[in-house]
Amino acid sequence: MRTAIISDIHANLPALEAVLEDIEKRGVDRILCLGDVIGYGPEPRECLEKCAAFDVNLLGNHEEAVLFDPVGFNPRAKAAVEWTKQQLMNTDCPREENAALWKILDSMEKTYEEQDIFLAHGTPRDPVREYLFVQDCEDDPTKIEELFASFSAATAFVGHTHIAGVFTASPRFQTPAELGGRYPLGKERAIINVGSVGQPRDGDPRSSYVILDDSEVEFCRVDYSVEETVRRFRRTPLPENLALRLVEGR
Ligand SMILES: [Fe+2]
Repeated sequence: MRTAIISDIHANLPALEAVLEDIEKRGVDRILCLGDVIGYGPEPRECLEKCAAFDVNLLGNHEEAVLFDPVGFNPRAKAAVEWTKQQLMNTDCPREENAALWKILDSMEKTYEEQDIFLAHGTPRDPVREYLFVQDCEDDPTKIEELFASFSAATAFVGHTHIAGVFTASPRFQTPAELGGRYPLGKERAIINVGSVGQPRDGDPRSSYVILDDSEVEFCRVDYSVEETVRRFRRTPLPENLALRLVEGR
């Protein structure tokens, strides 16, 4: 079984379309999404509609913010949440269409677990909001220890920081480049960040996701038209810096 695990699309439709095309080419059996389909970007409706077809859709902090309250968001991010909410309630669109979008949001669970894998948006112990940063390996080794103790599967997959790589309990973080793009499963437990489809922050503007099979995790990067996404941002009142950061991948 080949499984694509994607996260943090952030309403960037050209990026999502490029990733789905790549997934299609690579012959994948199912798609699991770790949340933050919406928030920041210009096309939340279109992205949610596409995600409805996935096998699993987890709740991200941006979905939580739209459904409930934007906790811990800065003023700009809060403004983006409000704009996103308005788009999903757009009275120019058929009422049933809006209801279908809210139904997708309502159906999102916080975690997903099967056999050897555990999935969450943030971390295994605080699945929606907590960040696991690379810096935590050095600054807070106890946190890493606690996170590994908080789930029982061999491998956890998370998103949220938009930086792909593998955390092991030692504690250690390795980037996909350091791993040659592949991480073999079965040797030791790991928390794997799949990176972000729609707003990468590791200095590489290409979309990031992973493909999991029985023996390994492959880190994938996909080119998409950042210029097209920037153009679509300009049709909205969303802050310009949210578009420009995509060019740099920061
Ligand atoms: Fe995110």
